[in-house]
Amino acid sequence: MENSIQDINQPVAPISSLTGQSIKVFAPATVANVVCGFDVLGFAVNEPGDEVIMRVTGKPGITISKITGDDGRLPLDPAKNTVSVSVQHYLKSVGRTNIGLDIELHKKMPIGSGLGSSSASTVAGLFAIKTLLGDNADPAKLLPFAMKGEEMACGHGHADNVAPALLGGFVLIRSYDPLEVVRLPHPAGLYCTIVFPDVDVPTREAREIIRNKILMKDAVTQWGNIAGLVSGLFMQDIDLMGRSMKDILVEPVRSMLIPDFYRMREMAMELGAVSFGISGSGPSVFAFTKNEDTAKRITQKLQQHLTSLKIGSNTYVSTINDQGPKVL
Ligand code: HSE
Repeated sequence: MENSIQDINQPVAPISSLTGQSIKVFAPATVANVVCGFDVLGFAVNEPGDEVIMRVTGKPGITISKITGDDGRLPLDPAKNTVSVSVQHYLKSVGRTNIGLDIELHKKMPIGSGLGSSSASTVAGLFAIKTLLGDNADPAKLLPFAMKGEEMACGHGHADNVAPALLGGFVLIRSYDPLEVVRLPHPAGLYCTIVFPDVDVPTREAREIIRNKILMKDAVTQWGNIAGLVSGLFMQDIDLMGRSMKDILVEPVRSMLIPDFYRMREMAMELGAVSFGISGSGPSVFAFTKNEDTAKRITQKLQQHLTSLKIGSNTYVSTINDQGPKVL
């Protein structure tokens, strides 16, 4: 899926006038799949998220001067980092590869968490360069570049993290080829509670263990649930959403990588969650609730449970982030 130059507006600002300018951008974490919509559904949350500071230098080419919060795990080499690689693809499309950029990446969320960590960084970088260049194109036009970053990070260019990180809210990937994304409404007063158990589950590996073939009867169950979830979003019916958020295809396999997944689900549902499932490829789990108190109680109890298993965790409670990336 290549963006051609006529797909996107030409940035207006001449490079010489930009030298010395800088911008700081935040992009949000995302919950991909939303349980039943493997690779086709995702939504953005208010926290956590990543920050990119981008400066226009006088010397053509991209450098990465600093990465924080990654425990030294991410490459500073611009040819190997998802942020610089996707920015480079964008620059090529708009004919601005002669610009000089320096990037600082501040990771504010765990890597390999199933919260769209690489997507948040990539989207922050793309939004930063688009804003610096004064490119008024629809942010959705940045999607193919962000997907290049995903492909590099985990071997597959899925869009269910990058699309909601870029557009905010709930997003459906209606089609990958041709790429078509649809922003969906969601009920007001929906809370999301996220628990990240501190175990490593790389997306690349979590994709390799999924079955390639499925039975027709399972497909019928799954697409009934996806349609039910999307209907619930449109009808503002949180209970219909909850009933529909069941995954019989991927969760049975991936749940094995998550400590005490089924016990955590039982606890969350007993405490009043309307749904519970794996966030993206895991190990983070998430639940929807109808109010903040229930969301907070669930994070506390699940965190206590993980502590009793000697597993550290991070927790977040958030409403849906409808804005996507923002300049700080
Ligand atoms: N849809 C992707 C997967 C999301 O489940 O592998 C990865 O975060």
